[in-house]
Amino acid sequence: MPVTPQDLNQWKQQGRRIVALTAWDYASARLLDRSGVDLILVGDSLAMVSLGYETTLPLTLDEMLHHAKAVRRGVVNALTVVDLPFLTYQESPEQALHCAGRILKETGAQAVKLEGGYPEMVATVSRLVRVGIPVLGHVGLTPQSVHQLGYRKQGKTPEAGERILNEAIALEEAGAFGVVLEHIPAPLAQRITDRLAIVTIGIGAGPHCDGQILVTHDLLGLSDRQPPFAKVYANLQHTIGEAIAQYSTEVKEGRFPEA
Ligand code: KIV
Ligand code: NA
Repeated sequence: MPVTPQDLNQWKQQGRRIVALTAWDYASARLLDRSGVDLILVGDSLAMVSLGYETTLPLTLDEMLHHAKAVRRGVVNALTVVDLPFLTYQESPEQALHCAGRILKETGAQAVKLEGGYPEMVATVSRLVRVGIPVLGHVGLTPQSVHQLGYRKQGKTPEAGERILNEAIALEEAGAFGVVLEHIPAPLAQRITDRLAIVTIGIGAGPHCDGQILVTHDLLGLSDRQPPFAKVYANLQHTIGEAIAQYSTEVKEGRFPEA
């Protein structure tokens, strides 16, 4: 049985940390799923890391569906969550329902993620949850608001911290099964995590969240721009570069293929 949102909330009670990563295609999803990752996010970061866009804003629903379908073909056990791209959900709860519905129906993913905890977005989350669509929230640094926020740490003043806490509480009350906390101070993330019954998944939010997520390209050393909070666990850019250089040499010297 694949991981469910209910499992995540049970694990929170038990103090079992949640392991989450992003995937962008069949091959990456299969690797993560076989490695026991609990939650696979088809993040709209794929706009930047896989498709070469400057920001996440240009990504379309059709592009996301294309990638999410590929990811789903590679997943057996993980909970698959798909980001709603910019302006596929902010217009109205009905727009969000239409697009989230397409994601669940056409890809087989079990949940969607959307950014923001302001009142209109909280109402949208209620609408989706009421229809039976599990929703993961996302507050703090929300990259779809890059032109307002930049990629700076959020919630640094007491007032800003209080606002983010209240957004997270409102998302829980609207029925979200969890909330991503991105690039906020660790003590604030700890407060939110203690206050909520639903799970917090941190990225650049310190060690006290119920789970952690990173963009897989960052972890594997495949990105051209790393956020300050990313940890590089492997330098695949280097490994791949060496393999290609060796292939290239062998082709040029007539050593590959062998007679
Ligand atoms: O798009 C993404 O990869 C994300 C995570 C980093 C939380 O939203
Ligand atoms: Na995202």
